[in-house]
Amino acid sequence: MKKSKEKEIKKKIIILQKEIEAAKIDYFQNDDPLLSDSEYDSLIKRYKEFKKEYPSLFSNYDKTLNVGTVALSSFNKVEHSKPLLSLANAFNSSDVKNFDESIKRFLGMDLSSDIEYVAEPKIDGLSLSIRYEKGNLILASTRGDGKIGEDVTHNAKTISEIPHYISSAPDILEVRGEVYILKSDFEKLNQYQQLQNQKTFANPRNAAAGSLRQLDSNITKKRPLKFFAYTLGEISNNPVDNQKDLIDLLKKYGFKTTQDFYLCKNFNELNRVYLNFNQIKANLDYDVDGLVYKVNDFKLQKRLGARSSSPRWAIAHKFKPLESFTKILSIEIQVGRTGTLSPVAKLEPVEIGGVIVSSATLHNEDFIKGFDNNGNKIRGGVDIRVGDLVSVYRAGDVIPKIKSVSLSERSINSKEYIFPKYCPDCGNEVKKEKNESSIRCHAGLSCKSQVIERLKHFVSKQAFSIEGFAEKQLLQLYDLDWIKSPTDIFYLETKHGHNSKIPLKNLDNWGEKSADNLFKAIEKSKKIPLNKFIFSLGIRYVGEVVASMLAKYYIEWDIFYDKMKNLSQKNNSALDELVNIDGIGLKSVHELKLFFSNKVSLEITLELPKLIEIEKYQQKNISSPISDMSLVFTGTLETMSRSEAKSIAENMGAKVSSTISSNTNLLISGISSGSKLNRARDKGIKVITENEWLELIKK
Ligand code: IVH
Repeated sequence: MKKSKEKEIKKKIIILQKEIEAAKIDYFQNDDPLLSDSEYDSLIKRYKEFKKEYPSLFSNYDKTLNVGTVALSSFNKVEHSKPLLSLANAFNSSDVKNFDESIKRFLGMDLSSDIEYVAEPKIDGLSLSIRYEKGNLILASTRGDGKIGEDVTHNAKTISEIPHYISSAPDILEVRGEVYILKSDFEKLNQYQQLQNQKTFANPRNAAAGSLRQLDSNITKKRPLKFFAYTLGEISNNPVDNQKDLIDLLKKYGFKTTQDFYLCKNFNELNRVYLNFNQIKANLDYDVDGLVYKVNDFKLQKRLGARSSSPRWAIAHKFKPLESFTKILSIEIQVGRTGTLSPVAKLEPVEIGGVIVSSATLHNEDFIKGFDNNGNKIRGGVDIRVGDLVSVYRAGDVIPKIKSVSLSERSINSKEYIFPKYCPDCGNEVKKEKNESSIRCHAGLSCKSQVIERLKHFVSKQAFSIEGFAEKQLLQLYDLDWIKSPTDIFYLETKHGHNSKIPLKNLDNWGEKSADNLFKAIEKSKKIPLNKFIFSLGIRYVGEVVASMLAKYYIEWDIFYDKMKNLSQKNNSALDELVNIDGIGLKSVHELKLFFSNKVSLEITLELPKLIEIEKYQQKNISSPISDMSLVFTGTLETMSRSEAKSIAENMGAKVSSTISSNTNLLISGISSGSKLNRARDKGIKVITENEWLELIKK
């Protein structure tokens, strides 16, 4: 290897070592990890790859891959009677198949024969080993590096789920399990910490670790720690011979064990349990990051034994992380409806939680530079560059986002990203607004992207709802100069109908049927309620909710239009009136004023109403079991989409909100509902199931 290349690789290895060591200290000692599990796993994976490829660059004493850290000096060190092993990971069903087959091979069994397993949830907490002698709890220790841990006996004794005395225990008994905190308790704990101006925790695991490793047991006592037992360490006389019976025995000794364990006859059954568990895991009140499969029979476990750090008879089947590492191929700028320049990272396609992701939002210039909207550092102030290896995550079904940049993988030739000074679409100079992070192009309707985005908004479902008018068609007709503004849409049939000189049906990708359908859809859209019409204008900060409030207040288009014209002419009474409408903020007021001061907008809003019929706002006087209530939906509904449920609720006079607040009256909980359900329960808000919801709307 060339000296320069060796130097470069060595440098990368040192950075990786530092990253891993820092992550271990954050995780194991400070209980405050900055990296997620999958980011950490990915660092380890890359480190192993380097180690395999360039073994000569590593010292014989390299401890980077050792699990855990040296026990904290503040606690007494204790040597475990038997090491606390970790588990090998399976990331997909073929890894599990390999696990099953390698066991059979090891035991000299036929590959078509069955092995019985127990599948248990892998609770995300921290492991604890508790030693009883003659039934008395004499020692509780954390895992440490697996061989030497920390003595946390005083703290463990404060956990109510850990018995201090077990009457029927053998002379020596070591019970091992996981200390954890329920998701609902975690939220409460963080709220309490915040009120006390104390540090909040990143997740339930850290809260559990931080609470168990307190030097003052009185603090641990106040923390809602739980313990679930799943295995044995040393035992003088083991009365059971399989994992299933062990769970029953641990229960008999007075421990909590998982209720969600499954006895599986073979590999196929493991897969079924995994798929099923994936569905229900969000409903559980504890964090699980996978399932643990254990060979049920202890005799077989003994024969299988362990490798250096993990047993051969067990494996952790991880749930798909909603996060992965990938490379930034380029940074593109999209110009939105209101001229905002939105940077988007084009990524090397990567699977995240079962979905292929190839782009992620970069929000704005500050985000790329490593700052949030208030100028505070994010990602430790590290900027984002083309070519960077980044971790990308998806939370729920939102647009993928970038979480961190791997500096050890950054090429020395990489350059800081320079945000454009001119609109990439129309070439106009772009400007940063005062007190805003966004950079905008103010060319308005002379900027093609903005026109197309406005037209897309205009024909969208929530506005004119004209089907068969996607971006592709709009671009085609824009390039032909047929549709440059919303009004052109309503002249389309007159100018380009079947009997015209240049009919739409003769264009590429069009035919008589599709042209007919479009004309019909346009015709149908001509009757539109006032709120939808106001929304369709695409004014910044005038979304569906604000548009509805305006419609409800002004009732008729002509009245609204006059008032808005007055507003643009600096008429104070029109301004006062608008500001005083409940729910209309100053940002919306400012943008309404700008919009109605613009010559082109004024022309469009004068001409459009002549081509269509804007319906007066209809005051709904609804009496239903949910009228005037504020509802929140969570989880997946099986019988209807969220939009349908929302529309039914609104038609019955209820308001639908996306977040739980003190105004919420009712939560409708579908399958896989998560934190909202817990929050609602905490606040004492009534929660109903989908079936109860169906009953309610039937009435
Ligand atoms: S059995 C020798 N069962 O996962 C095998 N571990 O990555 C001992 N864990 O250190 C572990 N839930 O802290 C087992 N049902 C479960 C578990 C579980 C969580 C943790 C445990 C272990 C880590 C391994």
